[in-house]
Amino acid sequence: MILVTGATGHLGSAVVSHLLKNTAANNIAAFARDENKANHLKEKGIEVRIGTYDDISSLDLAMQGIEKLLLISGNGPTRLQQHKNVVAAAKKAGIKHIIFTSIALRNMKTSAIRPLMEDLYQAEDFIKETGVMYTVLRNTLYTGATPLFGGEKVIKTGISLPTGNGKVPFALRREMGEAAANALLQDGHENKTYEITAGELYSYEDVADALSALSGKAVTYTDADPVTFPTKLKEFGLPEIVVLLVTGFSADIKNHQFEIVTKDLEKLLGRKPASLKEGLKEVFGFVYSVA
Ligand SMILES: NC(=O)c1ccc[n+]([C@@H]2O[C@H](COP(=O)([O-])OP(=O)(O)OC[C@H]3O[C@@H](n4cnc5c(N)ncnc54)[C@H](OP(=O)(O)O)[C@@H]3O)[C@@H](O)[C@H]2O)c1
Repeated sequence: MILVTGATGHLGSAVVSHLLKNTAANNIAAFARDENKANHLKEKGIEVRIGTYDDISSLDLAMQGIEKLLLISGNGPTRLQQHKNVVAAAKKAGIKHIIFTSIALRNMKTSAIRPLMEDLYQAEDFIKETGVMYTVLRNTLYTGATPLFGGEKVIKTGISLPTGNGKVPFALRREMGEAAANALLQDGHENKTYEITAGELYSYEDVADALSALSGKAVTYTDADPVTFPTKLKEFGLPEIVVLLVTGFSADIKNHQFEIVTKDLEKLLGRKPASLKEGLKEVFGFVYSVA
């Protein structure tokens, strides 16, 4: 049986939906902290196991009878300990294979988001030290991060970010979920670390061009001033942590930290991942293309 954590989230939902197409519902269990959010999973015949990454007894119960675990990374300052709790419970229960979602950066040591992201690499090390078979999925930025980083109304306002000409191999969360499901279902991914990226790099200028083509409106990209950028975000009323994240991610993009291209996602999908334009069309819900 497979246990998926974060199954009520965006990535976890994509994983579960692909699993359901390829294995019986009674072969899937979902770990959820909010029963109400998991009702739709129960209705599909998936066993829902309630708990949190902080609650060790809930984790011990959730791991019973599980062979493979997908640990979808959480958020927040205690995340490393939470991930260690999940992994330790998996090891204790004799789980054979742990798949973990992490982040794809060229060099964590020089990353602007190191204080917020280094724990993911520490969790990877912790998993490897258990001796349990592992697969690490180092995910790049979601194409869905475009509205987040550019603001929700980017079609009207244009994109203003201090990302220079830095590029990102944006990939769809839906396809990353499908890839994670395949890593759970297939053999041959044991003790591997994959960098889950598109086959091409895209700048925010490319994002603006693709949005222009899709919307028929001229969407601009402005390389924002990195010094005044955090203050502007604060003026929009964004919480401190969001300001830190957007500023840090932008600095890393500008410094070419995300410029990794592999065929790992393509191999796990068995086809080429969506192009930037196809991905943006899906994310923004365009119903037509004028390009
Ligand atoms: N690559 C990227 O661009 C990118 C962007 C953002 C985040 N991420 C990372 O990727 C992860 C998955 O992304 P996503 O879009 O699916 O995020 P999401 O929609 O926020 O889902 C996160 C899932 O983790 C669960 N969760 C969080 N903390 C938990 C805890 N302490 N105990 C039990 N469950 C917990 C949430 O449960 P609830 O439903 O109860 O909240 C939810 O199901 C994120 O958590 C984050 O670490 C990556």
